[in-house]
Amino acid sequence: MSLLDGKKGLIFGVANDRSYATHIARSAIAHGAECAFAHLPGEKNERRTRKAVEGLGVGSPWLAPCDAASDDDIASVFAKYAKDHERLDFVVHSIAFADREWLKPGAFTGTPRAAYLSAVDISAYTLVAMSRAAQPLMKENGGGSILAMSYYGSEKVVSGYNIMGVAKAALECSARYLASDLGADNIRVNTISGGPLKTLASSAVGGIDTMLESSERFAPLRRNVEGTDVGGTAVWMISDLAAGVTGENVYVDCGLNTIGAAV
Ligand SMILES: NC(=O)c1ccc[n+]([C@@H]2O[C@H](COP(=O)([O-])OP(=O)(O)OC[C@H]3O[C@@H](n4cnc5c(N)ncnc54)[C@H](O)[C@@H]3O)[C@@H](O)[C@H]2O)c1
Repeated sequence: MSLLDGKKGLIFGVANDRSYATHIARSAIAHGAECAFAHLPGEKNERRTRKAVEGLGVGSPWLAPCDAASDDDIASVFAKYAKDHERLDFVVHSIAFADREWLKPGAFTGTPRAAYLSAVDISAYTLVAMSRAAQPLMKENGGGSILAMSYYGSEKVVSGYNIMGVAKAALECSARYLASDLGADNIRVNTISGGPLKTLASSAVGGIDTMLESSERFAPLRRNVEGTDVGGTAVWMISDLAAGVTGENVYVDCGLNTIGAAV
């Protein structure tokens, strides 16, 4: 019997084989879960996501478009999921966006209102909207687990992370309030704070190469995090082994956050 046998979930954020969401999906599938996937609208995005998911050995993947900035898209992806599946046990929110123009060291003070609001909207508010859509479906089967991806720049200044740091602070705080509201339905909401990993999204962050170098040098495990590290923790957090864990932020960064003045 595998940890996630019989569990079904919806994963947001598979852009390619390097995405954190792809690593989470790989681990979830290896532990018995059935995964459905939402991708940004557009033929190119669908092709990219399909290729990454098929690379996980999923033959005919369930895919649906969703621009998380649109309430209608979020409603429609959950409605479509509910029509095609008899249960929803987990949701993985592994999406973020900020205009790369403002992700350069020293650029935070110049952040325009629109860039600030869209980063917080897509990277944090969407967790609230998705949790609201997931609640009735999870409640039907006695509960569920909602998981989002965060980063250390929510707590401490990481050069170049800028507006994404503000968005991640909002994301982690939203997870706590959601956990409090949804706990009565046995729905758990947590975040994983992952270490730096080379992906499409992280390549937009001005200081990513420095983050990777310092992580390898200063982290207690003397290495950078790998996708499988986050995938394994995600499996635990989705599974019933973590039945008593909610409103938490779990660091999976080889211990880097515990070291003073490392970055
Ligand atoms: N890579 C890192 O170093 C790192 C570290 C910690 C946390 N994270 C977080 O992990 C998550 C996944 O990022 P990643 O590094 O795997 O990069 P990625 O580029 O592979 O994934 C980002 C995803 O966000 C999606 N997205 C962006 N705007 C969207 C929108 N409007 N609607 C729907 N989807 C949208 C993209 O399509 C993509 O699938 C993000 O929340 C990111 O902040 C990344």
